[in-house]
Formats: sequence, C-alpha cells, structure tokens
Amino acid sequence: MLIWILIICLSQVAVQSQYYSKSLPYHPKPVKVTNLHFFFHETLSSKNPTTVEIAQVNIPSNHNNSSVPFATLYALDDPLKIGPEHDSEVIGNAQGLTVLAGTNTTDAVMYVDFGFTSGKFKGSSISIFSRNPIREIEREVAVIGGRGQFKMATGFALLKAYFINDTNVIIEYNVTVIHY
Ligand SMILES: *[C@@H]1O[C@H](CO)[C@@H](O)[C@H](O)[C@H]1NC(C)=O
Ligand SMILES: *[C@@H]1O[C@H](CO)[C@@H](O)[C@H](O)[C@H]1NC(C)=O
Ligand SMILES: *[C@@H]1O[C@H](CO)[C@@H](O)[C@H](O)[C@H]1NC(C)=O
Ligand SMILES: *[C@@H]1O[C@H](CO)[C@@H](O)[C@H](O)[C@H]1NC(C)=O
Ligand SMILES: *[C@@H]1O[C@H](CO)[C@@H](O)[C@H](O)[C@H]1NC(C)=O
Repeated sequence: MLIWILIICLSQVAVQSQYYSKSLPYHPKPVKVTNLHFFFHETLSSKNPTTVEIAQVNIPSNHNNSSVPFATLYALDDPLKIGPEHDSEVIGNAQGLTVLAGTNTTDAVMYVDFGFTSGKFKGSSISIFSRNPIREIEREVAVIGGRGQFKMATGFALLKAYFINDTNVIIEYNVTVIHY
C-alpha cells in the first residue's frame, strides 16, 4: 500500500516537473474550406447602440471635427443577420474592439470575434484582426483564427458597404475560411 502511494506521488511529481511537451514533427490534418455570407448590422447612436466609443485621445490635430478621429477606441457587439433587412434572422454577433488608427487616413484596425448562434456553426467563431479602410466601399480583412468548428482557421473576408447613414451601418461579409 505504502509503495503504491509512493509510486503515485512520484509519478505526479514527474508529470508536474515541466510545463512543456516534447516537440514533435507536425502532421497537418486535411483542412476544409467554408464560405460564409451574412450582414453585419451596426447601430451607432440610439437608445441601444451596438457600437460605443470608449476612449479618445485629446490632441490638437483631432480638433478638426473629423468623423473618424485618430486614436478613438470603440467596443462593439453587433448582430450578424442573414440579410440586410432590419428584421432579418440573427445568426450571430460580432464582439470586440475597433480603433481608428490612421493619423492621415480613415483606417480602422479591428480586433473582433464573429460568433455564430444558429445553424451548423452554432457555438463556433472566427477571429478577425485586420486593418480595415472603413471609408472604402469594398475592402478585404484577414481571418486569423477560430474556435469550435473553425479551429486553426485562416482566411479572408470581402466586405461591401451596403447601407451607411449617421446612425446605422450595414456591411455585407463574404468570408472564405480554411479550417479543420
Ligand atoms: C487638422 O487641421 C490642422 C490645421 O488645419 C492640420 O494641420 C491637421 O493636419 C488636421 N488634422 C487632421 C487629422 O485632418
Ligand atoms: C468643431 O466643432 C465644435 C463644436 O461643434 C466647434 O466649436 C469648433 O469650432 C469646430 N472646430 C473646427 C476646427 O471646425
Ligand atoms: C495626408 O493626406 C493628404 C491627402 O490625402 C496627402 O496629400 C498627404 O501627403 C498625407 N500626408 C502624409 C504625412 O501622409
Ligand atoms: C438611418 O437609417 C435607419 C434605417 O433606415 C433609420 O431608422 C434611421 O433613422 C436613419 N438615421 C438617420 C440619422 O437618418
Ligand atoms: C464570395 O467570395 C468568393 C471567393 O472570393 C466568391 O467566389 C463568391 O462569389 C463570393 N460570393 C458573394 C455572394 O459575394
């Protein structure tokens, strides 16, 4: 009995003696490609905004009242819908941060997780971390990872501004995801 306890204790000590595994050759698994098509609905100012400003630097060059002032940070939780209509079915949400990062351009950089809440990819999400020239009608952003069924994702998304006014923005997303 004592010997068994000793063996168990020793084996646990061995398990906890290092924090990394042996590095082995990597054998890539076959990957799949999936196309996603949806609309990103953003509400900027209303009783229930889905994108809100959380910080802005106070420097003289921002006092031109630009609608996209440099060094402004937004938090967002925007619904993703099947179509561009307001009452279209919600299939997920985009949560994260966007920072206006151009001193002389209208570039944003987005750090956003696009999670799906219905259909085959319910519970899975893709991570977009990319420069996003928001004033251009068509643009491309990078997919750099994913969760759930989108593990090890890479890819890109083609974005097209579908509707923009002062309070509402609707962007069409056409995403090509390569994943496990
Ligand atoms: C704001 O205006 C000042 C003076 O006209 C100019 O020097 C500066 O570049 C402008 N900044 C931006 C962000 O447009
Ligand atoms: C920016 O807007 C404020 C308030 O509307 C105004 O007082 C100021 O003169 C504007 N500045 C410029 C550079 O247009
Ligand atoms: C800023 O933008 C203006 C207009 O697009 C351009 O003429 C100028 O060269 C730019 N300045 C810098 C420092 O990039
Ligand atoms: C923007 O468009 C939406 C949807 O059509 C509308 O409900 C809203 O009142 C508009 N906002 C402004 C400032 O025009
Ligand atoms: C989405 O992008 C893919 C790859 O670029 C393209 O083949 C497809 O036609 C596009 N679909 C839509 C609806 O834009």
